[in-house]
Amino acid sequence: FAFTEANQRWAETQITKYPEGRQASAIIPLLWRAQEQEGWLTRPAIEHVADMLDLAYMRALEVASFYFMFQLQPVGSVANIQICGTTSCMICGAEDLLAVCKEKIAKRPHQLSEDGKFSWEEVECLGACANAPMAQIGKDYYEDLTTERLGEIIDELAEGKVPVPGPQNGRFTSEPESGLT
Ligand code: FES
Repeated sequence: FAFTEANQRWAETQITKYPEGRQASAIIPLLWRAQEQEGWLTRPAIEHVADMLDLAYMRALEVASFYFMFQLQPVGSVANIQICGTTSCMICGAEDLLAVCKEKIAKRPHQLSEDGKFSWEEVECLGACANAPMAQIGKDYYEDLTTERLGEIIDELAEGKVPVPGPQNGRFTSEPESGLT
């Protein structure tokens, strides 16, 4: 693994932002950039980041495996659908959303769809509980989901479209009630 020239320069700049002796604190942005470049974190990518920060590979792997935003196996080339399965979302229909993923993408989490375009996984609370059930796709949140809407979103992504993120039930798109600003 090697960063692209631009990413390598960016990574080196990040490291200089931390006080002397604390350069290892740059690990999360560097791992994130490696994942953005490759799609997921390969062992060589984690090793490269560890080497840049003078860390043991195992220390870098500990960080990469702790946060579910880091992918340690290949994800769909178009999208990895992260369905929140924590309490609010579970009560509001996360199981049904997971069933859509199993039907349209693959039977098991982290398994690639036949065309390699999609993968899915269940994740812990993403902090949008009031708009449950919801999913994260890339950097975007898709909230107030129904099974129908999730199916449409997957279809739109497959067609190369970018579904509009945010609440999927029209919340916030109507005029605010008078007196509310
Ligand atoms: Fe799903 Fe919090 S429980 S976002």
